[in-house]
Amino acid sequence: MTDEVSKRARSIRPFVVMDVVARAKAMDAAGMDVVHLEIGDPDFPTPDVILRAAERAMEAGDTGYTQSLGLPTLRDAISAHHQAAYRVSLDPDDVIVTQGTSPAMLLLFGALLDPGDEVVMPDPCYPAYPNYVSFLGGVPVPLKVRAEDCFRYDADELRRAVTPRTKAIMLTSPSNPTGAIYTTDALREIAAIAEETGTWIASDEIYHGLNFSGERDHTIREYTDRCFVLNGFSKAYAMTGWRLGYLIAPREFVRPAEEIQQNFFLCANHFVQEAGTVALTQAQDDVRRMRDVYDERRRYLVPALRELGLVIACEPAGAFYVFADARRWGSDSLALSERLLAEARVAVAPGVDFGFGGEGFLRFSYATSLERLREGVDRMRRWAAS
Ligand SMILES: Cc1ncc(COP(=O)(O)O)c(C=O)c1O
Repeated sequence: MTDEVSKRARSIRPFVVMDVVARAKAMDAAGMDVVHLEIGDPDFPTPDVILRAAERAMEAGDTGYTQSLGLPTLRDAISAHHQAAYRVSLDPDDVIVTQGTSPAMLLLFGALLDPGDEVVMPDPCYPAYPNYVSFLGGVPVPLKVRAEDCFRYDADELRRAVTPRTKAIMLTSPSNPTGAIYTTDALREIAAIAEETGTWIASDEIYHGLNFSGERDHTIREYTDRCFVLNGFSKAYAMTGWRLGYLIAPREFVRPAEEIQQNFFLCANHFVQEAGTVALTQAQDDVRRMRDVYDERRRYLVPALRELGLVIACEPAGAFYVFADARRWGSDSLALSERLLAEARVAVAPGVDFGFGGEGFLRFSYATSLERLREGVDRMRRWAAS
């Protein structure tokens, strides 16, 4: 890349899975039949009740700007949802509605980080985290999480990774790419580390609702006030393209985050916020219905991948991903994903995309039908045999 491009822009690492998506889509367009297991985009249509709410809102003329913090009705609904889902109170004044969890990350790290501040994050993790942190002048500190530990932080290692320069610990449960869920004891322990060390927890709870453990989701807010929560409607409500999310921030950060939002994003779409309110209040049955279908796919895919010889040390219990050790097929995950696409016509995400700790792994998304999952597994079986 030319020197004319800013160092900041050059510091951003590409999200390779998006390149895999582009290549796989080009193959689709050329008439080749690719099985798509690469992307975390629900294959369900957005539930009808949400679509209708958006239509009504558009017809009623809800197409202008709203308050930067978001519609009071949606912020109230988020607060009520927290009370119902987690039994914790949430003041709507601590909620900032955003155009997805992604802009909420910019508000969070923008309001929190000064140059040189460190953020400890799991390796592997969602690839945008280190990019947000370094783009804003912070320093991402990857901490390896291992398959044998169900890809959760080891508490002693986390304690050692937190230094006086640490401003935040990133937490994702259920996790992308691993599908791991933290136990309540583990959440309590991370909360204790944050309180002992005076650091903050940035908890990305976007996969809440997609939990197959048989237990309810737990927000980090049940365990500590030293936290920010990121959440959004993309995954559990099948609303990726609508762009709606929110940040829950400690009171002293709300106004700074609002000022960033006012300048950079203005507000989330009015009619989308109306639809989001209905999603929270009227689409919980739809969320459970989709969750049960994902679970059925998960129960098919995990043993099927194990039969192919891939290693899954700890069964994923949330989100819609299986992160499998594929070193039996090759240790270079990028090369392996390229071969699977070209030779088996199965698109998957290379583990290294999520950090060096993901090298040797492949991420399989089951946000696709059982029929296509079976087809993908059959193709990989034939490919491995040849
Ligand atoms: C862990 C995690 N956080 C955030 C996002 C982005 O979500 P949104 O669509 O709300 O911006 C994703 C999307 O894949 C994700 O996996």
